[in-house]
Amino acid sequence: MGELKCANDLLDDREALAAAWERDGYWFFRDVLDKEVIGRIRQTYTDYLLEMGVARMEGPSPRYNGADVSGLHLHTALTRLNDAKVHKILHEAPTINAFFAKLFGCDPFWIPFTMHRTNPPVSDRSTSRFDLIHEDGVYNDGLPFLICWVPVDDIDEDTGGVALLEGVHKGPCLHRREGTNILPIDEQDVPSGQWRRTDYKPGDVLMMGLHTPHSGLSNISADRFRMSLDTRIMPSTGKVPLVGTLTEVTKTGLKVEDANGVHELAFDSTSFVRGHQGDRMPLHEIPDRYKPGKEVIIAFEDRRVVNMRPQN
Ligand SMILES: [Fe+2]
Repeated sequence: MGELKCANDLLDDREALAAAWERDGYWFFRDVLDKEVIGRIRQTYTDYLLEMGVARMEGPSPRYNGADVSGLHLHTALTRLNDAKVHKILHEAPTINAFFAKLFGCDPFWIPFTMHRTNPPVSDRSTSRFDLIHEDGVYNDGLPFLICWVPVDDIDEDTGGVALLEGVHKGPCLHRREGTNILPIDEQDVPSGQWRRTDYKPGDVLMMGLHTPHSGLSNISADRFRMSLDTRIMPSTGKVPLVGTLTEVTKTGLKVEDANGVHELAFDSTSFVRGHQGDRMPLHEIPDRYKPGKEVIIAFEDRRVVNMRPQN
């Protein structure tokens, strides 16, 4: 795989930044985020792994101790870290916000849609290293965010991390569909010479667009955890979504409360409400799965829901 282009030299040149984004579909910045803040996040991951009984310490990083990890959900949602709102360590850090304010030329708007990952080594090394090739856009129509992928510890080639396809973001969409289901992108359908990655370190950040295909890479290290998070961000001057709590839901519409008050929105036949698998939920099923009290993110247009998904 080729090496990601580093965009640090473009940070003071808005035109060059825009041109790189248009050409490549991503920005990679090396050693720009406050490492003390990233260290605090790493500590929450480490505490979690030690508490789960799957790690031992060796130097500053946890190492996999060989324990059975089936059923622990280490690979995906890590619900406990979401419930503890660990993303706030990043989203509320003044130094982190200062970096993104410089990048955007305005305050950042964070979207509370964060995945924490502490993947242990895989046991089966005979399969493809791509976890799931996808673009985020097909699941999040109308939410104009940038993906913000942050290594929380050193992540080398064996440990995996994320890889993306450079310059393959202008379409056509490589996902196939079966009815309302969106299928992952097939490894055979992508230009394999465009894969890019790097050896990631705390302080780095990789940002990519909604239509940039990417995949996690399996961890084939001896005993390291691949620790990273991905979250969502956009310039606050953009068309930001509603981020709030549902107070009422029917199959025709909803009320959602945020810091500015209560907003009433309607569903229509084009509203994309995300189901459990990232698929589109039929309107009549919404009140069962999205109840008052649920924290949501909603893209809207003229009082109509364009896209709704849970916060996490
Ligand atoms: Fe993704």
